[in-house]
Amino acid sequence: MPNQAVERKAQSKLARQAARADLLPFLRAWIAAPLRVAAIAPSGPALARAITAEISAASMPVIEFGPGTGVFTQAILDAGVTADQLIMIEAGADFAALLRTRFPAVRIVEGSAGALHDVPLFGAGKVGAVVSGLPILSMPKPVVLAILDTAFSELRPGGAMYQFTYGFRCPVADSVLDALGLKASRTATVLVNAPPASVYKIERK
Ligand SMILES: C[S@@+](CC[C@H](N)C(=O)[O-])C[C@H]1O[C@@H](n2cnc3c(N)ncnc32)[C@H](O)[C@@H]1O
Repeated sequence: MPNQAVERKAQSKLARQAARADLLPFLRAWIAAPLRVAAIAPSGPALARAITAEISAASMPVIEFGPGTGVFTQAILDAGVTADQLIMIEAGADFAALLRTRFPAVRIVEGSAGALHDVPLFGAGKVGAVVSGLPILSMPKPVVLAILDTAFSELRPGGAMYQFTYGFRCPVADSVLDALGLKASRTATVLVNAPPASVYKIERK
């Protein structure tokens, strides 16, 4: 077998092992805070690839909301974003502790993505992409509005936010999109995820 194929096989075996190892901490976090975690297992590799499909080194710097055990984080780094050009925002203390050991070179802000007004991130208009694993559907509208407001004050012109959902439409209400002058389009539907999920790209009109 050629070297690259052997390497790919070894990498996907490692990814499968990591996913299995993450099941228990995820389930524990869901039992402790079902509304905040809103999933009983981490996203699968196909969804991680779909939500990061448009991310590359050209997207730097990048912000990630709700990284959990870091499935999307790894995909963002694999897409060419360097660790010093990524900031993760995670509200769960256990997830934040795990992420610190797993991605020691990536800055993590432990707190809510809806309350970042006093937290310096990369700076207004600098960021190329925001990748979000947040459970938007279980959040009150004012919190969603605050989260998108933060995302789009960091995003530069042409930058976009990528959000996944288990629902059948964009999880961000039209009234929130309209209030901020944004539009959303579905970029992928991933059936090989438990449960199946879609990815939405949210950008300025
Ligand atoms: C559905 S899980 C997704 C985790 C991971 N991105 C994945 O796809 O496997 C939601 C994540 O968002 C985090 N979260 C929920 N509300 C948050 C908030 N207001 N600010 C930051 N993180 C939050 C949860 O702790 C959890 O890590």
